[in-house]
Amino acid sequence: MLKLPGLIDPHVHLREPGATHKEDFDTGTSAALAGGFTIVLAMPNTKPPIFDASTLELALDGAKQKARCDYGQYIGAGPGNAEIAASLAGTAAGLKMYLDSTFGELRLDDMTLWQPHFEKYPKQFPLVAHSESRTMAAAILFSALYDRPIHIAHVSLKEEILLIKAAKEKGIKVTCEVCPHHLFLSKDDIPSPPSPLPEGEGRRGEGRMEVRPRLATKEDVDALWRNMDVIDCFATDHAPHTLAEKDSENPPPGFPGLETALPLLLTTVSESRLTIPDLIAKMHTNPRKIFHLPEQPETWVEVDENAIYEIKASEQFTRCGWTPFEGWKVKGKVRKVVLRGKTAFEDGQILIQAGYGQNVRRS
Ligand code: DOR
Ligand code: ZN
Repeated sequence: MLKLPGLIDPHVHLREPGATHKEDFDTGTSAALAGGFTIVLAMPNTKPPIFDASTLELALDGAKQKARCDYGQYIGAGPGNAEIAASLAGTAAGLKMYLDSTFGELRLDDMTLWQPHFEKYPKQFPLVAHSESRTMAAAILFSALYDRPIHIAHVSLKEEILLIKAAKEKGIKVTCEVCPHHLFLSKDDIPSPPSPLPEGEGRRGEGRMEVRPRLATKEDVDALWRNMDVIDCFATDHAPHTLAEKDSENPPPGFPGLETALPLLLTTVSESRLTIPDLIAKMHTNPRKIFHLPEQPETWVEVDENAIYEIKASEQFTRCGWTPFEGWKVKGKVRKVVLRGKTAFEDGQILIQAGYGQNVRRS
C-alpha cells in the first residue's frame, strides 16, 4: 500500500451555479475524493460567471452546503471588474483570465483589457491564464513587465513548454500545469465523422474528443513528456458535459478528469516513465506553494499500486456519465482517503457528508 499526501487539483469546473445537470459541488467533490484529491480549485466560467462579490458569494454558498472535500473558488477577469476582483483577492482561489477561446462568456480579447488586472490584482495572490500559443507568450511578457507571478493553465504544445522553459531560465516568475489528457491523448485519437452524417443522428466520437486546448500532435505530446521538469503541476481541467451534449450537433469542449488522473499517472510510474516523488511534487507540493494553500492535518491517500483494472464511467461519481478513457487498462487504485482525520472515501464509497469540505481561503 502506497501512502500519498492529499492531492490538489488547481483547475476544475464544477458547474455550480447554472449547469448542475452536468455536475455540482456534491458530485464534483465526490469525484475528487474518489480520485485522491482533497483540495480542488473551481473555475469561474459558470452561469452566471463568478466576477464580483455577489456571484462569488453565490458559488461559495453552494460549496459550503455541498462540498465534501476542501475547495477554493476563482474569480473571473472581465472587461470592467479589475478593481472589484482585486478587492476580493483574499476570498478567491485566484484570478482566472481567459485570453483565448473557451467555453462560456468570460473572455478578454483586447490586451488593453489585460492591463488593469495585471496592475491591480495583488501580487501575493495567484493569477492564472488560459492562453494558448502566442497569447501565452504575451501573457508571460505581461508577467515580466508587471513583475508578478503568472500560472499558465493547461499547456499542451511543444512551442509552449519550450517558451516556458526559456522564460524560467531568464528568471520570469512563470509556473505551469499540464492536463493528463494532453499527456495521454493526441489528434490521432479523434475519430473522423461519418460522411454524410446519418439522417437524424447526432455526431459521435469526434464531439466527445472536443476540448480546449485541442488535442495536439504526437510531437507535442512527446515534448511535454521530455520536459517533465518544466511542468510544475498536473491539473485535470475536469470539464464535465453530458454525453447527450457531447454527441450533439454542437458539442461543448471538455473532458471529466478527476477520477482518471491518478490511475493514469500511476500506470506510467509502474512503467518507469514518472516517479512517485515527481507525482507528489506536481500534485501536492508545487500546487500548495503556487496557490498558497493551507496544510491539511491528518490527511492522506492510500493507494494499491498493484491493482490492475479497467476504467469504467459507470463506476464514477461525476454526473456527466462518461470518460474519454473508457476501457483503458490502468495500474494503481485509490483505496482510502482520510481528510482532516475522517475517512472520506474507502473501497468505492464516499463516507463523508456534504458540507464537510472547507473553503481554503476561509480565514
Ligand atoms: O475544454 C474546455 N472546457 N476548455 C475550457 O477552456 C473550458 C472547459 C469548460 O468549461 O467546459
Ligand atoms: Zn478549464
